[in-house]
Amino acid sequence: MTAINNIELVSKNKNPSLVHRVGFFDSGIDGLSVVHAFQKLCDDAEIFYVADWTYCPYGDKPINVIQERARVNTKSLIEQGCTTIVVACNTATAAAIDILRKEFPEISFVGMEPAIKPAASQTKSGVVGVLATNATFKGRLFRETCAKYSSGIEVLEAVGEGFVELVEQGKENSEEAFECVSKVVQPLLNKGADCLVLGCTHYPFLKKTIQAIVGSNVSIIDPSDAVAQQIIRVLQK
Ligand code: DGL
Repeated sequence: MTAINNIELVSKNKNPSLVHRVGFFDSGIDGLSVVHAFQKLCDDAEIFYVADWTYCPYGDKPINVIQERARVNTKSLIEQGCTTIVVACNTATAAAIDILRKEFPEISFVGMEPAIKPAASQTKSGVVGVLATNATFKGRLFRETCAKYSSGIEVLEAVGEGFVELVEQGKENSEEAFECVSKVVQPLLNKGADCLVLGCTHYPFLKKTIQAIVGSNVSIIDPSDAVAQQIIRVLQK
């Protein structure tokens, strides 16, 4: 990987006749969960990645700060020649994707969607738990997605307090992670959730710990693969 300021060139284009330059950004390294899902489907795009560590975590920042960081990250990726930009962060998608689309009309943006729809079709108990940041829950996108797909099911919201920090510090499989995740997830199980939606791109890195706590009867839904498919559709246009 080549470092360009805070931008990493994740994968070099192997086919010089192709011109796809795809940029990704998140508050930290964890939008890489989406990059990896994309690389499984496409191995000839040039990928740039911005990890905005100075402002991590986004989840507890005021909306105007998240919007400004989204602008700055987008401009850095445009400077590298990216014409498709993936907001690989649920929090930044919720706070800023509408603004980005308006301010940078020449760029195709792909954002993260809370995976309520697949959860609603999978749940047998009729209770779905969503794990996300505070800012994501406050956003219009989450409310609208819930209103659209949650009829007949109960959706429980839980902020993954401390999850982002654990992942950024590489402690995702530690005892500390087990305790911190249990505190957030156990109340969802007590209320009957049999399906958990990972509504933050940091959380897939805690999947092993979450699964160990919830057991095999509870499914965990990570939207990265669906987002990767959407990137492909956008590139094909
Ligand atoms: N990974 C991000 C998300 O998907 C942001 C987490 C944070 O920085 O608080 O929401």
